[in-house]
Amino acid sequence: MDVIEVKDFHKSFGSKVVHRGVNLSVRKGECMGLVGGSGCGKSVILRSLIGLEKPDRGSIKINGIEITGFNENQLVDIRCKAAYVFQGGALFDSMSVEDNLAYPLREHTKLNDKQIQEKVLQTLKKFGLQGSEKLMPASLSGGMQKRVGLARAIILGPEIILYDEPTAGLDPYNTKKIQQTILELKKTGTTSILVTHDMPTAFEVCDRMALLLDGRVAAEGTKDELKAGEAADHLNRFVNGEAT
Ligand SMILES: Nc1ncnc2c1ncn2[C@@H]1O[C@H](COP(=O)(O)OP(=O)(O)OP(=O)(O)O)[C@@H](O)[C@H]1O
Ligand SMILES: [Mg+2]
Repeated sequence: MDVIEVKDFHKSFGSKVVHRGVNLSVRKGECMGLVGGSGCGKSVILRSLIGLEKPDRGSIKINGIEITGFNENQLVDIRCKAAYVFQGGALFDSMSVEDNLAYPLREHTKLNDKQIQEKVLQTLKKFGLQGSEKLMPASLSGGMQKRVGLARAIILGPEIILYDEPTAGLDPYNTKKIQQTILELKKTGTTSILVTHDMPTAFEVCDRMALLLDGRVAAEGTKDELKAGEAADHLNRFVNGEAT
C-alpha cells in the first residue's frame, strides 16, 4: 500500500494558480525526491501532507486515510506520525538545544524528566551533536542548526519524514552527514519525501523522483527510468537550470 497518496491536488493563492492536478504516491520505506524550480509549490505540498495547508481540490491519503477534512486533534496525530524537517531548521530561538529536542517528548509522550534527558542525549550523540546540549540555536553554525532541526524532527520516531531542502546552504561535509542520516533513517523503514535543489543528494538517497513543472508532475520514476526514458529530457533541462 502507498503510505502517501496525493491525487489531483489543486491549490491557488489568490489569482496565482500553483498546483493544477498533482499526483504523487510514495510506498512504504521509499524515499521519493520532489524537485522543481523555486516557487513551483514543493513546500506547499509538504505542508499540506501535515495539514498546514488545505488543497482547493483533490485528495491526500496517509496510510490509506483521507486527511483533507481532519480537525486539529486528528492533525496532531498526523504530525506525530509525519515529521516535517523545515527549510530553515525552525528551532525555538529562546530554548537551548537540549530543550528544543525535549519539547516534542514533553508534549507528546509520558516519559519522565530522566527518560527525556536520556533520550535527548542519545539522539544528540547519534547526530554527532554531543556536548552542544546547553548551547542556544543562535550560537550554532548553519550546518549544526540543520542537524539539530533534523534530530528534533525524528525524536518521536516518525513513520514518515518530510525533508524540505535539508542540505541547502551546507558545505560538503555537512551535506554528506545529512545524506548519511537520511540513508540510515531509510534503513529503519521510514517513508520519506525529499524536496531539494541538490541533485547529487537526490540521486544519492532517493529511490524515485518526481519533477514538478507547471503545477503538475511532469516526470516521475526511478533514477534509471528518469535517465533513460522520455522524462530524461525534462529532468536534464531542470538539472541544467533550463527549466523554470
Ligand atoms: N501562504 C501563502 N500565501 C500566498 N502565497 C503563497 C503562500 N504559500 C506559498 N505561496 C506561493 O505559492 C508558490 C509556491 O510556494 P512554495 O513555497 O511551495 O514553493 P517551493 O517550490 O517550495 O519554492 P522554493 O524552492 O523556493 O522553496 C509561491 O509562488 C509562493 O509565493
Ligand atoms: Mg520551498
